[in-house]
Amino acid sequence: MDEVLNECADIAVGHVADYIPQLSEVDPSLYALAVCTVDGHLYHVGDAGTEFTMQSIAKPFTYALALHDQGLEGVLEKVDVEPSGEAYNEISLEPDSGRPRNPMINAGALATYALVHGSDAAHRRQRVLDFYSAVAGRDLELNGDVLDSELKTAFRNRAIAYLLRNAEIIGGDPGEVVDGYSAQCSVSVTVDDLAVMAATLANGGVNPVTHAHVVEPGAVRQTLSVMLTCGMYDSAGDWVTSVGIPAKSGVSGAILGVLPGQVGIAVYSPPLDKHGNSVRGVVTFERLSADMGLHIMSGPKATSGVMSEAYVADLADGAGQVSVYEIQGDIRFAGAELIAREFIDNPPQTSRVMIDVSRAGGFDDVARRIIREVLRRLMSQQDRDVYLVDPDEYLGAYSEEEEPGDGADVPEMLAEAGDLINE
Ligand code: DON
Repeated sequence: MDEVLNECADIAVGHVADYIPQLSEVDPSLYALAVCTVDGHLYHVGDAGTEFTMQSIAKPFTYALALHDQGLEGVLEKVDVEPSGEAYNEISLEPDSGRPRNPMINAGALATYALVHGSDAAHRRQRVLDFYSAVAGRDLELNGDVLDSELKTAFRNRAIAYLLRNAEIIGGDPGEVVDGYSAQCSVSVTVDDLAVMAATLANGGVNPVTHAHVVEPGAVRQTLSVMLTCGMYDSAGDWVTSVGIPAKSGVSGAILGVLPGQVGIAVYSPPLDKHGNSVRGVVTFERLSADMGLHIMSGPKATSGVMSEAYVADLADGAGQVSVYEIQGDIRFAGAELIAREFIDNPPQTSRVMIDVSRAGGFDDVARRIIREVLRRLMSQQDRDVYLVDPDEYLGAYSEEEEPGDGADVPEMLAEAGDLINE
């Protein structure tokens, strides 16, 4: 991280946002990078203590909260998920429905804010702030000066909000929506906060520091999908091909990136390119992605080695033989398919079969279903005794009639057999 920061610090192109004094007066040399792992370890370099406002980085989080409040269908009715290919403040509304193209541009973000539940304006605003705080794992606050300035200059956002009201995408007072949206832009954070917020999304919605479950997995998936396709505005295609990390930028100069299952990343450097994305932020992400192999499409290698051992062992005291299958690693669809195929291509030749998943790291839902089906089919064969070694109950509970043996006596007999085991 130090190396990346040192190399990119000399980049001196771009201009800080100048539509409000609080942004235009900021020191353009400020530069910070933070990475938070999905087990909550935080690394940071540069000006990591500097606070700045979230600006558009707030958009995906309000989207996640709206998904929680309204469900996917309810949100899609009002805000689409198509990349607009246009600037963030473009009036990108679909001609027929008046729906904003996506929740990452201002039109969509205003409509999204209006979908958040609240008994009144103050309650809705507070819920948004509380939600961001839960995702960040600390109580975040508004920067009142930035908010005042935002509100004094929010003419374009007001115009968009009135168009949304006219198209019945939002109800009630468009002014309240602009106020609330501007407030969410004015939430003050550091790169550490953003890295933890990103890591919460990377971790399936569980804050890796507080361990609070703050976003449902479905909302995480939807939010990250929209970040991947629409998060970087009119440079979204460039970003996805060169960096390949779902991300969101803000005009304060921050970029937040989420690598599912691995890390949350945040960069802060105020000078912006013509798209409104931090110049050094983009280069930093490009470097990190290339050096650390973080591009989402160059991600996991093909599944192999899920079956660590498959052998026939002699049991002690001439008790016969058992086919033993030892399964390891994190088992997902492709791994479970490999295991199922092994049973189909090379059916066990002994009446006793033992499947040992005690060394597996876990099973996702589809893998669990496939392996349970393998067990069910084995057990339905005549003269077959099936044992399952699953101390962590990865494969879940079984009803009485479908329950395989627990294999407890088999390892014992195997141990006694000792050197008789033929691998
Ligand atoms: O809506 C606005 O004009 C700003 N307060 C936030 C926009 C923003 O961050 C766009 N991002 N690049």
